[in-house]
Amino acid sequence: MPTIQVTNLAGEVSSLDATSGNTLMEELRDNGYDDIEAVCGGVCSCASCHVYIESKWASLTGKGGEDEHQLVTSTDYYKESSRLSCQVTVSDEMDGMEVVIATQDY
Ligand code: FES
Repeated sequence: MPTIQVTNLAGEVSSLDATSGNTLMEELRDNGYDDIEAVCGGVCSCASCHVYIESKWASLTGKGGEDEHQLVTSTDYYKESSRLSCQVTVSDEMDGMEVVIATQDY
């Protein structure tokens, strides 16, 4: 069970004991991170699960597919470290990973 450090929109940092095999979006949504609305339920069509994850974790998070890239780059708050959390699967190796919730636009 990895512990992920999450910064919410208010800048508050907290620890999330996540379950490997679930998506990061599911873990955030189901553990009270209300900044994540995940309107589409995780089918990569809304971008309301937008987070930032530094590139040093890329070997664990993967690169993301073309659909994700198109969607996330169309948001107002896109950065190079942007990911859609519904497209990231939690693994044990992510222990200590830092995730910053992005301002969502719809
Ligand atoms: S929940 Fe809609 S794109 Fe991730």
